[in-house]
Formats: sequence, C-alpha cells, structure tokens
Amino acid sequence: SGGVSGAFKTTELFPSSGKNSCEHLLLAGVGKNEALSLEQFRKLGAVVVRKAQSSLVPSLRLDVELFKALKGPAGTDAQLEAFLEGFLMGAYEFTKYKTAKKDAKKSDLKLVLISAHGKAHYTKMLARLSAMIEALTVARDWSNEPPNFGHPQYFASEAVKWAKKLGVRARVMGEREAAREGMEMLLSVSKGSEREGQIVVLDYTPKGRKSQKTICLVGKGVTFDSGGISIKPSQGMEEMKHDMSGASTMFGALMMCARMKVPHRVVVLLGFVENMPDGRATVPGTVVRARSGKTVQIDNTDAEGRLVLGDLLDYGHQFKPDVMIDAATLTGAVLVCLGNRASAVMSNDDGLADALKRAGDATGERLWQMPLYAEYLDDLRSEVADLRNIGAGRNAGTCTAGKFLEQFVKPSVKWAHLDIAGTAWDLGHLEYHPKKGATAAYVRTLFRFIEEF
Ligand code: BES
Ligand code: ZN
Ligand code: ZN
Repeated sequence: SGGVSGAFKTTELFPSSGKNSCEHLLLAGVGKNEALSLEQFRKLGAVVVRKAQSSLVPSLRLDVELFKALKGPAGTDAQLEAFLEGFLMGAYEFTKYKTAKKDAKKSDLKLVLISAHGKAHYTKMLARLSAMIEALTVARDWSNEPPNFGHPQYFASEAVKWAKKLGVRARVMGEREAAREGMEMLLSVSKGSEREGQIVVLDYTPKGRKSQKTICLVGKGVTFDSGGISIKPSQGMEEMKHDMSGASTMFGALMMCARMKVPHRVVVLLGFVENMPDGRATVPGTVVRARSGKTVQIDNTDAEGRLVLGDLLDYGHQFKPDVMIDAATLTGAVLVCLGNRASAVMSNDDGLADALKRAGDATGERLWQMPLYAEYLDDLRSEVADLRNIGAGRNAGTCTAGKFLEQFVKPSVKWAHLDIAGTAWDLGHLEYHPKKGATAAYVRTLFRFIEEF
C-alpha cells in the first residue's frame, strides 16, 4: 500500500511500529523475480546503502534470515556476500578534495548483521569483504587522484607504503635504472615530461609453501595521457588522468592476494609515466630499441601504453611466471567494439582466456575474447624498424594493440591482456559504482582467478 511497488531496486524508509528496537524500517524491492542472480544482489546492496546514506541513518540492522526467502541459484551465503559486496562498493565516494565538512553520520554508517549463525560462520566472508573493499578503495582513489597530485612519484611512494603494511617486497626503479635495463621503449613515453618515470616491482611470496605457482601482473600506469606530440583533442582530455587504471587494478588485486594470503607467488610490475609534449618529447618517426632487442618505430606518440607494457612484459620473464596478465586502458577502439559493458581479453592461450572469463562471470565483470590473428602483425610492419607502434588505418585497433604486446611475450609463457579502456571509469549504470569516476573493475575478477588458479 501507499505506493510501494516492491519493484526491483526501489527502496522505502518507514517509521517503525515499535515491535522491534529500530526507529525505521528500510524496505528494498526485489521485484517478482524470485531467483535473483548474484549481480542483482550486488545492486540491491548498493541501493540499500545509498538510501541509508541519503537518509542519514546512523546504523542499519540487516536480518540475514530474510535472504532465505530469496531462493537464488547461488545459496544464502553467496547471496549475502554479493549483497554486502554491493553495499560496501556502493558506499564509496571520492571526497578528498571537497572542502565542505563531511557529514559525520553519512561516513560513520554502521551495519549490524542479525543471523541464526554465530559470528564464526562469517569469519571468512567478512575477511574477504574487508580485503576487497580496502583494495577497491585504494584502486579507485588512485585512479581518481587529480593528475597534478597523482604523478609517477606519488604512486610509487603510495605503493611502497602499502607494501610495507601488507608484508610485500617492493622496489622502485627510476629512469636511470630503466635505461640500464634497456627499456628505451618505456622511456620514450616520459621524455617530454618534467616528471621522472617510475617502475614499481612488488613481490608477494606466500610463506612456507613449495609447490606455489607464479603469477605476474603488469599494469599500464600512464598518470596523464595528453597524447604527447600526437596530442589529443582538448574535449574530454581530463579523463586521461585515469590512464593509470591498469596499474591501480593490478595493485588492488595484489592487495587482496596479500591480505587473503593466496598460496601463489604474485609479482606485480607497474609502469608509471606521464605522456607529455615538449621540446624533448618523442616525435613521430622515432626509432627506439625495446628491452627485448626489437626495434620499434613510434609513428603515434598517443599509442604509448603498448610501449610501456612491452618493456615490462619482457622484464617479467625473469620471474619465470606460469602466467602473465596485463591490464591497460589501451585503446579507444575497445569502446567502439564493446562500449562500457565489457572489457576485451586477448590471449595466446584459450584455456587462460576461458579461466579469466569464468572468474569475470562470477564477479559480474564481463570479459569478451578478441582475436590475435597472425595477419594483424602485417599491419604493424615498419619500413625502417622491426615493428611500428600503430596499425595501418583505424581498423581492429584493439586487436593490433594486443598483437603488438604479444611480440614481447615468449610463446612458451601463457599470457593474457585485458583492455579495460571502456570499464575503468564512469560505470554509473551499475548501482555499486559511482555515477562518475573510477570503478576499480577487474580487481575482484583477478583476485578470484588467482585464488582459484
Ligand atoms: N589511453 C588511450 C586509450 C583510451 C582512449 C582509453 C579512450 C580510454 C578512453 C591510449 O593511450 C590511446 O590514446 N590509444 C590510441 C591508439 C591509437 C593512436 C592507435 C587510441 O585509442 O586512439
Ligand atoms: Zn595514448
Ligand atoms: Zn594511454
């Protein structure tokens, strides 16, 4: 009654009749659909926390037994976990640079779970949720950081600070060390920047296990992508502060792995550089020698992500990884293909791509496989050097970028590339993401993949 439809995702707040000790009842509609998917539970969690926040409710009691009435395919605990995931993710706001005083009530919202089970039943779930939200908050904060503050040195020092807390080994390489490594390709990107590029190497090794696998994660950390001499149009250029989201995603995944003590070694390589035009900036036509020894003609300085990742992928081989995965906001073309409804995965191993897709299906983060046909390499031929950093024409830009990266991976190493340019920010159509700004999408997927590896 009273205009309450019960439609999915609607919420209502009523004064309580007093039978319980609560002042209000918060009702959330689940619609007619009785078998809600986990993704729908995430959305429910997000609309509930937003209603509570906007109503300045100081604390919320959630009757877990209610979930038993909602017979989804995943079971009560999985549904509850998904609901809480959405609840925590939906509560995020980036307020660091707002000067108005934060509403204390809104930020201190407390959630109490009421259940027939004892606390012990939820230990693992709560540990996982707290690791998840800590990692997502850091990954989103990094990506949202304005480019004047969020420069290579800032992220390198934040990474080291967190690594200490997490018991993860960390090492930072500056441009001199990168030069000693022969990473001319990576270094070409920051030549026009006043800020020194920083490579962060993080190494989580689980204690006391011998049969562990090694997973190497590589992230594109372009702290601002102006395009360089191949400068971008000014319309929307401010969004390119998010061009380090591959790095923040991989760092978030590492945070979760370390907090949850996964049984595998996880090595993370983050390449932080700023892509700027300047008198010393790389100009189109420049030929550089990659760390792998291949020569590359840089015909478009805006195709810089692949230059950073190519050298880092090559560097990654020394850790003898069982699998290498990179994440990058690599191409605008992936938005043409998939919009912001999925990310592209490309791989030299279909089994690996499938495992990543399965992990993504479980977390609600879609991956769609794109090909790495041999013919795409023909588009990357240079008259002068071994490779050129852009394809011929505008076709299949996501695939030619993936193909370029593949040239820096030994065929014996299983490798996958995630192009997250369409999903790293502005997924406001999903209730548990902010209307605008960073999503930290694929942190949960990568953690799940590694946990199950
Ligand atoms: N960072 C961009 C890709 C991008 C575009 C991410 C839009 C998110 C939204 C990347 O460095 C880039 O500029 N790629 C070029 C490649 C082209 C020059 C071959 C692109 O996609 O236009
Ligand atoms: Zn670019
Ligand atoms: Zn870029």
